[in-house]
Amino acid sequence: MSDESGEPEVEVELEARLEEQETFEPPESFVEQANVTDPGIYEEFEEDWPECWERAADLLSWNEAYGTVLNDENAPFYEWFPDGKLNASYNCLDRHVEEGAKNRAAIKWEGELGETRTYTYNELLNEVEAFAASLRDLGVEEDDVVTLYMPMIPELPIAMLACARIGAPHSVVFAGFSADALATRMNSAESEYLVTCDGYYRRGDALNHKQKADKGLRGVEHGVQTVVVDRLGDELTHFLGNDAYDYGELVAEHEGASVEPVSRDAEDMLFLMYTSGTTGEPKGVKHTTGGYLAYTAWTSRAVLDVKPEDTYWCAADIGWITGHSYIVYGPLALGTTTMMYEGTPDYPEKDRLWELIERNRVDTFYTAPTAIRSFMKWGETYPDRHDLSSLRLLGTVGEPINPRAWKWYYKHIGNEECPIVDTWWQTETGGMMITTLPGINEMKPGSAGPPLPGIDARIVDSEGETVDPGNAGYLTVNNPWPGMLRTLYNNDERFIQEYWQEYSDEDSDEWVYFPEDGAKIDDDGYVTVLGRVDDVLNVSGHRLGTMEIESAIVGIGGVAEAAVVGGDHEVKGEAVYAYVILEDGSEPTDEMRERIVEGVEDAIGPIARPEAVVFTSELPKTRSGKIMRRLLENIASGDELGDTSTLRNPEIVDEIAERAAVDT
Ligand code: WT7
Repeated sequence: MSDESGEPEVEVELEARLEEQETFEPPESFVEQANVTDPGIYEEFEEDWPECWERAADLLSWNEAYGTVLNDENAPFYEWFPDGKLNASYNCLDRHVEEGAKNRAAIKWEGELGETRTYTYNELLNEVEAFAASLRDLGVEEDDVVTLYMPMIPELPIAMLACARIGAPHSVVFAGFSADALATRMNSAESEYLVTCDGYYRRGDALNHKQKADKGLRGVEHGVQTVVVDRLGDELTHFLGNDAYDYGELVAEHEGASVEPVSRDAEDMLFLMYTSGTTGEPKGVKHTTGGYLAYTAWTSRAVLDVKPEDTYWCAADIGWITGHSYIVYGPLALGTTTMMYEGTPDYPEKDRLWELIERNRVDTFYTAPTAIRSFMKWGETYPDRHDLSSLRLLGTVGEPINPRAWKWYYKHIGNEECPIVDTWWQTETGGMMITTLPGINEMKPGSAGPPLPGIDARIVDSEGETVDPGNAGYLTVNNPWPGMLRTLYNNDERFIQEYWQEYSDEDSDEWVYFPEDGAKIDDDGYVTVLGRVDDVLNVSGHRLGTMEIESAIVGIGGVAEAAVVGGDHEVKGEAVYAYVILEDGSEPTDEMRERIVEGVEDAIGPIARPEAVVFTSELPKTRSGKIMRRLLENIASGDELGDTSTLRNPEIVDEIAERAAVDT
């Protein structure tokens, strides 16, 4: 039946109902088969804290049992499952092979041009052992940091697990980051080993990645041994240079090698992951072997409902924490099949992801709101072309999801039959912290949900007092959890300053973690995360420090001063806006603008590319000389400017707004 506009009536009604509806029950068909369904779990965790976390640790195989669950003697330098011993690669590989899953697919990979590769657990184990033996031959010893600068190719998780096997922490640098970003991270971690590749495909073009790696290496202050994966074959000259080894040759030479997994202390470092903070220096977040692996396995099981027989797909990049926790470690620890896709969602067509889900009969799909907003913009004709009925659960992560995007995802991807988990967490938390449990809780679009069992998250005012439901405040976490970061690499002081100083009471030894997000809570205890409260931007779910971008801009010849803020963006959530004052004698030309954009790309990478560069003669400053960022943000977002009376130079605001209107 159709109305006059030609739209089917039922459709219109359904749309209207979806628009209005504020809560959604988890579908019965999902609940019936869910891993976790007993609402009593919240109370059990509370009553039995911290011993409740044994449930997470019990998902792993330990070489030596831990004696204590939590050691808080030296808080906030907490230790989880201390004196327990285990190996992460053993937990992700060997034990599944030993338990009869050797022919189950561990990784299903798809290249952008359509080629596919499947690694069974047995095959993955063999290649990990061969590469672990290769790394040892190159001289890698336990606790040496190995940097991995690779796109979404199977050799990336293989190298991660090979490092884990021999107790060498890895530091993965996102392939989209620039040469400078690679050098900064390698210098900071004093990393003497680099595994990279010749290139990879983006929208059909072969990109030269090795060239970028080489440029980065020129900025590294110490000697480095490099291994290069040949991704492109003849497409690109597989130039190795004097000091580089060929991954393929190394693995062939070490084929059949047997490398005993090194027994690591639970608190030994598994990896470092650099992330942006308020200052220009990226922070080296340290994650450990026992707590991190237990936590990612537990949340994969409880929240993502992962089962060994599933085909599970998290469409993030392994270069970010989401990929570490929920493409590699969590899913593989549970022995499931994890998908990896090399390319972009709109190549060759805008239905690429849906085609992939249909062909692989994917059970669970986990992505970011920015991607969902793009899908929405492209329209439902693309998912409608495909049979998505294999899906049972959907997830999102990275930034707040607006209810409209949530409902679109629910209807057009999930066919109203899949729960959605909106998972709040951070690089530092290691794994999910605030989300519904899909087999238990009702869902409220736009709100992540209650804190997970065992997590004591609260919303407080600037004094640390709990605020009433409905009011905005600061999000805090009032107890530790196994997946938490242990420190910032070589910088215990900054660790305390960044995360603990704000709300802790050191004298009474009460430690409160501050993630630097604003949030509110409702009467049912559901948390809505409002966004960062520090000078960190969230562009397409990726964290970027405004200071990092500003220092890249002021490093460009002719620039005197710069202020970078985030402005609202339909798809990216936030976009980078740069306000720039030039030195006398420099002209605000298009060429100058181009130099600034390129400078930012060189220093950080294309994700930090400014949406607009606005030249101005002054920045709005308070009488004490502080830049009024709020005003610049309002200009960038096209919002009302609000009060300018506290400014030293209120007249500049109109000038900037006018220029911005012309320049953007
Ligand atoms: C920041 C962390 C967690 C992996 C990806 C990003 C924001 C993350 C949500 C969500 C609202 C979210 C926060 C957080 N964020 N997930 N579900 N709802 N905001 O990791 O780069 O460490 O960034 O992302 O602002 O602090 P990250």
